[in-house]
Formats: sequence, C-alpha cells, structure tokens
Amino acid sequence: MLIKSPPPKLLTEAHATPESAYVSRRTLIKGVGAGIGGLLLARNAQALDLFGADKPQAAPRKPLDFAADKPAPELALTPEAKVTTHNNFYEFGTGKTDPAEHSQQLKTEPWTLTVEGEVEKPGTVDVWKLMGEIGLEERIYRMRCVEAWSMVIPWVGFELGKFLKRFAPTSRAKYVAFETLYDPEQMPGQRNRYVGGGVDYPYVEGLRMDEAMHPLSILSVGLYGKTLPPQNGAPIRLVVPWKYGFKGIKSIVKIKLVEHMPPTSWNKLAPQEYGFFANVNPAVDHPRWSQASERFIGPGGLFSVKRQPTLPFNGYAEEVASLYSGMDLKKFY
Ligand code: MTE
Repeated sequence: MLIKSPPPKLLTEAHATPESAYVSRRTLIKGVGAGIGGLLLARNAQALDLFGADKPQAAPRKPLDFAADKPAPELALTPEAKVTTHNNFYEFGTGKTDPAEHSQQLKTEPWTLTVEGEVEKPGTVDVWKLMGEIGLEERIYRMRCVEAWSMVIPWVGFELGKFLKRFAPTSRAKYVAFETLYDPEQMPGQRNRYVGGGVDYPYVEGLRMDEAMHPLSILSVGLYGKTLPPQNGAPIRLVVPWKYGFKGIKSIVKIKLVEHMPPTSWNKLAPQEYGFFANVNPAVDHPRWSQASERFIGPGGLFSVKRQPTLPFNGYAEEVASLYSGMDLKKFY
C-alpha cells in the first residue's frame, strides 16, 4: 500500500537547477556546520583528525522486495545521491557530509532489535530475517528537518504499529522509547564530545502510543528500493512524516514500551528549543529561526532552490491532526 501524500504543487520541477550548484551549497553548509540547534562550535573536527583513520568502504546495499503497487510518484523526489550525502547522524559528526564520510565501517549485519517493557511477549528479533518475512512496502514521504530544509524520500519499511502488536502491548503502555546503538568504538561521535555535538549518547527518542500505532509511522529498512546505507540509519530507523526529522531515530537496537513520557536526546540538550512532540508546525517558530517556510532539496541545485511554505503537520494534517485535538500545540511543541 502506498499512503498518498498531499498534492505536489509545492514541489515541482521549477525548483530544479544544475547539480554543480548543489555541490557548492553542500560545501557551504559544511563550512558553517552549525548543527541542528546551532548550539555547536564551528567544527574543525576533521582538521583535528578526531575521526580516526580512514575506514573501508561500505558493503553494497542489497535490493529489497517490497509491495510493488507503486503509482508514479506524486511528489518530486529528492535524488538518491542527495538523500545519502546530506544527513544528520551526530554519532558520525555534525557536518552534513560527515555521516556519509565516516559511517561506512558501521557493522550493520548481524543486527538485533529488542522490544521490552510493557509488553506481554518481550523479545529480540533478527532484523535481517525480519526484512525477509514481514512484507515490506514503499512509502513516499515528505521529510522536514527542524533546520528548515526538506526532502521527499521513497522509504521501504513496515508499519511500526503492526510490528509492536506482535509483542502484545499491555494497557500500561502509554509511550514508546527508542534507542540507537551505543558503540563508541564504531561511532566517533560517541567517543568524542566535540565530534558528537554534545549529545548525551545513546541517542534516544520517543512517541506517544497512539502516534506509534498510527499507520503513517513506519520502521524503515531501505530507501530507493535498496537497504539503508549506514548514514541514513542502517539497518533500521524510525520515520514519522508529520514530525521534524530529528524524531526519526537511526540504527535502532531497543524499543521499550513505557508508562511515562521518556526522555529524548534533543529535548535533553535544549528543552526550550525541542519539545517531545516535535510536530511540524509553521505557526510555532524555533526560538532562533522561523519555521514558516523550508528549502526543498530537490533535483536541482542551490540557485533554483526556492523556499516553499511549510505545511501544518508537514502536509499530513488530514491524517493526524485528530491525534492532538484539544491540545495547545504552542505549549506542546
Ligand atoms: N538518529 C541518531 N541516532 N542520531 C542523529 O544524530 N539525527 C536526526 C535523525 N535521527 C540523528 C538521528 C535528525 S536531526 C534528522 S534531520 C534525521 O535523522 C535525518 O535523517 P536523514 O539523514 O536520513 O535524512
């Protein structure tokens, strides 16, 4: 099944410019290196050689089998080369090209994911086996980063809610807490605060139970028809399209169903800037910049990238706004 996204009128070929311009933009972004909160010092970790020796190249990405009832994409897709080179994965550095440059040695196979806490049937699954048996589908989703850029990405994955049901959540399960691998040997940002942007590792995230059970929330194991590359969160990461990108925790090893709202990495680091809910909301500015519009990273380059208005719930309001009825979304940002 393909969940349809809103019409593509905001994301058109009009945004296209030459690839060369995009390369200059990336260089520029890397030079600025402000991090998602702009909290970080200008980075020169590379210059200081804090990443360690050059590592071998990544294992090739494997083709995935997924539900093929795929109509022509309604949205202009962000090219694969951009999806895999413009990333946030602070375990591998705070610059946009750091994850692609420094994550290729991450050992993603074998990989297990443990589900525990408020469930009747806790367990640990082999993620690679799971990919073969769960029935994968493609979902073309908008992704809006809190830094006011966006992409449209063809993810391959499965519904988080269907997966969680296998473990029989108890009635006390009110929230879902997620945790990324903690392995400082493999993740330079975890062994060096400067490289890792001051995040208290392991990176953690959370959803309310009804958000997790919503059919738009997926665990992704691939993009563009192949398994995820390490920089995008291989082998398994969360994608919740109506929330800012930082909710999309990568390289998950543990999911715990809990009674109380769990801590989340960005909220711990800067609570006044990053709330638990993190719903995309053009009406609630980040304390240091507007969230009213965004730069779509599309097929073109820097000089044709036009700002487009940001949509409430990132364009998924029809599907998810009811989850928050009666809540003051300025207070619960
Ligand atoms: N997950 C972990 N473990 N570490 C991170 O630094 N960054 C988040 C999120 N997941 C992050 C993470 C942020 S800020 C964003 S915008 C998205 O990943 C980016 O996902 P992408 O690189 O696949 O586009």
